[in-house]
Amino acid sequence: MNPSTQRQAFGLKILNAKHHAVRKLKTEGYQAEIHGNKFWNSSFLIMDHLKRNPPQRALRVLDIGCGWGLLGLYCAKQFNARVTGIDADPNVGPYLQLHARTNQLAMTFEKRRFDQLTKAYLSKFDLIVGADICFWDELAKTVFNLIRRAHTAGVGQIIIADPCRTPFEKLAESCAHAFDHVERIDARLQRPVKATGDLLIVSQR
Ligand SMILES: C[S@@+](CC[C@H](N)C(=O)[O-])C[C@H]1O[C@@H](n2cnc3c(N)ncnc32)[C@H](O)[C@@H]1O
Repeated sequence: MNPSTQRQAFGLKILNAKHHAVRKLKTEGYQAEIHGNKFWNSSFLIMDHLKRNPPQRALRVLDIGCGWGLLGLYCAKQFNARVTGIDADPNVGPYLQLHARTNQLAMTFEKRRFDQLTKAYLSKFDLIVGADICFWDELAKTVFNLIRRAHTAGVGQIIIADPCRTPFEKLAESCAHAFDHVERIDARLQRPVKATGDLLIVSQR
């Protein structure tokens, strides 16, 4: 492994922007347009939480705003989960599939926006994860509405991680008012990177 172009963390190989296969996708025209141009550290915070609190059974997982898909791939690898990643930006799909191949894992990618995920669609999942997806003011409402639809559809748990930007704070406040079982966890990592943020967890019980 060339450490300047890839690293190993949480059991996954993660390629960086200098890796030849990532550069090739860029030259082929796959330029992420909504911040999905790299892997974001909030994903590590959710991986660490799931490592400490492993799901009890095989799961159907939806990674929302999945970007390169490493969080979903972590669930596939560690929990044998059947994982779908959705993202508004179709250009992240090839980076997700590159990482799936690199790690010899399977994950489905679909181009969908948060507001396109219906209750019927969401009801097919047990766990929804989203890392660093609440970064614009309007996303606070969009992500809240998505969580409400998912909760009504019976999704067992929804976990959102963020470095506590203002829209995320608004989202957390709305969830605290709307749902009975809401946790907010201060999350910190020293390794593989220094990362801090909060987890917002909405559960059925
Ligand atoms: C900061 S990146 C985080 C990517 C990934 N979750 C990670 O941790 O590496 C935010 C992702 O959310 C996606 N996104 C932003 N708004 C969206 C929306 N309305 N619907 C679906 N995806 C969206 C972007 O395309 C981008 O891939």
